Amino acid sequence: MSQRDLIVNALLEEPKKTISGEDLAKRLSISRTSIWKNIKALQKEGYEIKVLKARGYRLKNLTKRPLEREVKRGLYTKRFGNRVFYYEEIDSTNNAAKELARKGVENGALVIAGRQSKGRGRLERRWKSPEGGLYASIVLRPDIHPSRLTAVALLFGLAIVKAIKSLHNLDVKLKWPNDILYKDKKLAGVLTEMEGEADKVNFIVVGMGINANTDVSVDIPATSLKRETGAEVNLVALLQETLWQAEGLYEGFIKDPTAFLDEYKEHCQTLGRDVKIVQPSRILVGRGVDIDKDGALVLRLPDGSYEKVLSGDCIHLR
Ligand code: BTN
Repeated sequence: MSQRDLIVNALLEEPKKTISGEDLAKRLSISRTSIWKNIKALQKEGYEIKVLKARGYRLKNLTKRPLEREVKRGLYTKRFGNRVFYYEEIDSTNNAAKELARKGVENGALVIAGRQSKGRGRLERRWKSPEGGLYASIVLRPDIHPSRLTAVALLFGLAIVKAIKSLHNLDVKLKWPNDILYKDKKLAGVLTEMEGEADKVNFIVVGMGINANTDVSVDIPATSLKRETGAEVNLVALLQETLWQAEGLYEGFIKDPTAFLDEYKEHCQTLGRDVKIVQPSRILVGRGVDIDKDGALVLRLPDGSYEKVLSGDCIHLR
């Protein structure tokens, strides 16, 4: 644990009390000047720490940023988030996660950013990423066939839906494959990328972007949790709950790849709707009728035949 971690813990132990610099210095076996420097650094990280002259320090509020020490405190997952890399700003957490994965970072490692300068969405789109949104990517090293990638992406979309429902009680839905919508407006998305060989996965990076306290518009009209709930969203709690939900679904998926499907279908608005699927080489229009074991959307076409699609832009028609 770093000196700053220890100071935050000490201040948290007695949240309403003022702790003197001397007391903190003794506890950490460092000088009062070092305590002061660390307090300044913590304030820069967004912690609201009141400095009372000649009396000491009092923690008024934790930082709102999803810093490593905040994410790890109260995270009850087994592997997801065991390693956390936090950046104030980065081009894309998916890029950073892929680089770490190539260097061998462990399964479950997580990259988080306060904002992204080149956030990426599905289908080569941009993902605008100002301060206030949640941007995180996780590295997975499953022993599965590459054809299962779509299913992994679906599973994370479902995890976000479950997390938002449980924390904010909003009736959010999924648009296949993994857009998270509230009243047909986009709240969150998932970008899954893989590196491997024809029949072997080296690693998967799953990037999650949630419009928590921002509502920048993306490919379709967007909204944010803050706008819909009327309150500032705690990014740390949202990320912890998402990771918790995702790990549970992922463990189930590794044992039985179809385990999460029924729950996914329950929340998927694309089923029973007329949809247009836009792929690079063709456009299909049909009714969404099922999701198969690989995560493919099964469409009933106007001539009564069925067609499976594993990728593409999905537009709900009515
Ligand atoms: C989409 O709906 O198009 C997917 C959006 C995924 C955005 C997230 S934000 C964190 C991670 N880093 C990126 O550059 N993209 C994903």
